[in-house]
Amino acid sequence: MTSTVPPARTDAVPAARTSARTSARTSASTPASTPAARTAAEPPARAFPPGFRWGAATAAYQIEGAAAEGGRTPSIWDTFSHTPGRTAGGQTGDVAVDHYHRFREDVRLMARLGLTSYRFSLSWPRIQPTGRGPALESGLDFYRALADELAEHGIRPVATLYHWDLPQHLEDAGGWPVRESAERFAEYAALAAQALGDRIDTWVTLNEPWCSAFLGYGSGVHAPGRTSPADALRAAHHLNLGHGLAVGALRAALPSTAEIAVSLNLHAVRPLTGHSDDLAAARRIDAVGNRIFTGPMFAGAYPDDLLADTTHLVDWADLVRDGDLAEISRPIDLLGLNYYTPTVVSAARDGEAATARHDGHGASPHSPWPGADDVTFHRAPGELTAMGWPIDPTGLTELLTALHREHGLPLLVTENGAAFEDVVGPDGSVDDPRRIAYIRAHLAAVHHALEAGADVRGYYLWSLLDNFEWAYGYAKRFGAVHVDYDTLARTPKASAHWYAEVIRRGGID
Ligand code: FCB
Repeated sequence: MTSTVPPARTDAVPAARTSARTSARTSASTPASTPAARTAAEPPARAFPPGFRWGAATAAYQIEGAAAEGGRTPSIWDTFSHTPGRTAGGQTGDVAVDHYHRFREDVRLMARLGLTSYRFSLSWPRIQPTGRGPALESGLDFYRALADELAEHGIRPVATLYHWDLPQHLEDAGGWPVRESAERFAEYAALAAQALGDRIDTWVTLNEPWCSAFLGYGSGVHAPGRTSPADALRAAHHLNLGHGLAVGALRAALPSTAEIAVSLNLHAVRPLTGHSDDLAAARRIDAVGNRIFTGPMFAGAYPDDLLADTTHLVDWADLVRDGDLAEISRPIDLLGLNYYTPTVVSAARDGEAATARHDGHGASPHSPWPGADDVTFHRAPGELTAMGWPIDPTGLTELLTALHREHGLPLLVTENGAAFEDVVGPDGSVDDPRRIAYIRAHLAAVHHALEAGADVRGYYLWSLLDNFEWAYGYAKRFGAVHVDYDTLARTPKASAHWYAEVIRRGGID
């Protein structure tokens, strides 16, 4: 049995004391006459449009805990994290940051930050434990209470239906490589929308289906940890189909004013050189990393080059049934982009092919790139975050402007942020200037896209709180709010105070 307890910290200071001290110090150091105070009163150099959604994002399994409460049954992430060797230190989301019990405190924190919107995910096995049959009222009640608390603080909820926690029952029945999972997903979407549609007006079907399909069933670094290129491609199609069927179910159940979106982790793919072999490598990664989703969703077809690259792995004619593409391409209202770092690739280089198997979410001898598994990945220039992800905000501007040009949809940045080795100071505060620099640079990148005409409606910082970072366990801290994993005390980091100021002023300098 592996440990389920996050690493102990010895430098803990209770949250309330810490934040009181932090804010006292902040206000003492910025009297009205300082340049900082004068700047704060002036409009920001880069103002964002009125109504821009200033948000933060989380996901159920990463924060809720209460894994066995209220009738919830295991998801694939419970099973995976409880399997020895799958996550760092054998850590699990059993307790996570206990948001299930502390959501009121967390919403108050959001209000203190001035967030105008909050993106969270609904836990499928909390709402529909076996992935079939009626919804569980206790699960729905939790989300009703959360939505009510948000409403009380004027924070607009954005609910993601699927952030990777497939009910284990459905994985036992074959998981995403099996068509039935798409149908079950649409049923669950309908149940959630019927129960919560009066409180939640923005819905995201899937979070990062690329990760679900290719890390879950290809490289196996994510749940359920399977390693079949063919199954990964089947999973991708059934996730697409699940998305389309869910869009139909949501439209039928929600008021006509509701907005429906999907969140894709599109890759800003860059060839290492202009050599035709490297251009071909970039094309292949773009096909199986991006266009495998945007093709069917927005053009109603899988790209020909993707089909050709993968035809030896799956029988697409058998996989894609009549009518599937019409379902998948149902119109949506917003496109969510999750962006962290660009992707630099070349044709296979002697002795370097193994790097192709490292995708940034964990190493595996199995490739998450079916049909492109000989492509070599290279480190983009730029400083690295604690995930080893190079910092390069230009990829965000590039993707937003390209998406605007190609699809013309309103856009949301549904995730962006960075993990760093945060240090808790003797007074309990966390000074995280690198995270501030990261967010500032990426907000500037969003602003550039706005100036170039992209209709970007909001930005959701990943993440509100430090949390369970999947295969990395609790070691990687992405939060604007520090969580002490012994006491579960929350302490806003300097980046949280800085972000609050950005929101208050409506932009950055
Ligand atoms: C994204 C996930 C999110 C979090 C960030 C760091 O791929 O959607 O849950 O893990 O990466």
